[in-house]
Amino acid sequence: MKVTKICCIGAGYVGGPTMAVIAQKCPHIQVTVVDLNEQRIKDWNDPDTNNIPIYEPGLSEIVAEARGRNLFFSTDVEKAIDEAQVIFISVNTPTKTYGKGKGMAADLKYIELCARQIAKVAKENKIVVEKSTLPVRTAEAIKSILDNTGNGVQFQILSNPEFLAEGTAVTDLLNPDRILIGGDTTPEGESAINALVDVYANWVDKSKILTTNVWSSELSKLTANAFLAQRISSINAMSELCEKTGADVNEVAKAIGMDSRIGPKFLKASVGFGGSCFQKDILNLVYIAKSYGLNEVADYWEQVIIMNDHQKRRFSSKIVQTLYNTVADKKITFLGWAFKKDTNDTRESAAIYVADDLINEQACISVYDPKVSESKMLNDLDYLQTRSSEENNKALTVFDDPYEACKGAHAISILTEWDEFISYDWQKIYDSMHKPAFLFDGRNILNAKELESIGFVYKGIGS
Ligand code: NAD
Ligand code: UDX
Repeated sequence: MKVTKICCIGAGYVGGPTMAVIAQKCPHIQVTVVDLNEQRIKDWNDPDTNNIPIYEPGLSEIVAEARGRNLFFSTDVEKAIDEAQVIFISVNTPTKTYGKGKGMAADLKYIELCARQIAKVAKENKIVVEKSTLPVRTAEAIKSILDNTGNGVQFQILSNPEFLAEGTAVTDLLNPDRILIGGDTTPEGESAINALVDVYANWVDKSKILTTNVWSSELSKLTANAFLAQRISSINAMSELCEKTGADVNEVAKAIGMDSRIGPKFLKASVGFGGSCFQKDILNLVYIAKSYGLNEVADYWEQVIIMNDHQKRRFSSKIVQTLYNTVADKKITFLGWAFKKDTNDTRESAAIYVADDLINEQACISVYDPKVSESKMLNDLDYLQTRSSEENNKALTVFDDPYEACKGAHAISILTEWDEFISYDWQKIYDSMHKPAFLFDGRNILNAKELESIGFVYKGIGS
């Protein structure tokens, strides 16, 4: 089958960039991205592509090139499903907040809604692609819903997990390490796999397109995220030991990273990992393992989350302790709120938890982040339900200018590794602060020696 029309349900951090790149690289394919969220679609259609709802380096240029040519954003979900041969499901799969599996399992209600809508609308055979990250064996549930429509339409379900990281989504999509496609081993399954392989082969070398059975593909995505997060928790665990022993975690990371079996990437000690994926996917993995009675497997992976929570809490405690055991009424400035640089996404950002702890200690938090809006920061705090919105509003002050944010502060904390923080005039910032001027670098991006020579009391992670 030659694919000429694709629909993607879900215009979020995955659906938007992924489909923009497919449209750019496959001008012969019409790509329609649909979402129930009218504002999100309106923003994707903003005449000025600098205002699209997701900030990713290089994305607005790709949208400007393809939008209106073969890339469309719409709220007409049914029409897009009806017309497409291939339907990507790229909706959110957050951790359940109610019922069985609360706080652990993935909430699949949005996925099921999509399957039911596809079942209702489809009049011709279709390929349904799981792009969202899903528990292993979800395809079975989707298939069961789709196969019970009674209208004779045949569906093939493929698993095609997305490995992009935010902040580098465009380069990750243009040059992926691999594309993973899982499908049935029947002739129909293989033909569906080949149809999707041909789409990616427009720009990805075929040697990088890996095909597997559906269950391997689903589980590989959870496994990849678990391994990546485990590396961060491992180096963060070492950072605490470094602080006690006089070792420097940056030196340790370099030394072990030169072992080609370990490799140098993903060994940056930090205030703790954030983002919408790692925690959610590991909790889901733990839940699945437990549901099969594999308690040791579950405990092993749960430790990655326990360590990460500890790292975030340890950071806020250190601030309080260093500031003579009280931060009440002290101005503490956060540089960065996003969960990593080059994104406006704040989901599960360490900054939220550190702020929450410090507000509990009655600190006054000032924040500057180059891409995150004040309303998003306040929403993040409100979501924790620790205190009322009014109280959060009172405790948090958001600045457009980093120097203003730092003026009169007792301490500065770096929560996100935005490049611009490195080149600030740190002398000017020091001069405007209370003394002693404390600097807690939760990302180890600043030069400790230079800052100490200015006069800062500098505290990095793991040294
Ligand atoms: P997101 O919340 O940014 O976007 C999901 C979108 O789906 C939302 O705009 C929502 O309105 C829409 N939606 C939900 N139900 C719908 C329905 N029935 N019909 C139409 N639209 C609907 O989420 P995301 O970050 O893009 O993640 C999507 C999936 O991809 C998740 O499973 C996630 O685990 C996975 N993933 C995310 C990343 C990442 O970096 N964010 C990377 C790889 C995989
Ligand atoms: C992750 C996976 O990398 C990606 O493959 C998957 O598709 C989605 O989940 P993402 O969460 O967008 O991507 O960003 P990532 O670069 O993995 O960073 C996640 C968090 O870990 C961030 O808070 C980051 O600051 C932190 N991190 C990363 C570290 O603390 N140290 C590191 O060495 C690397």
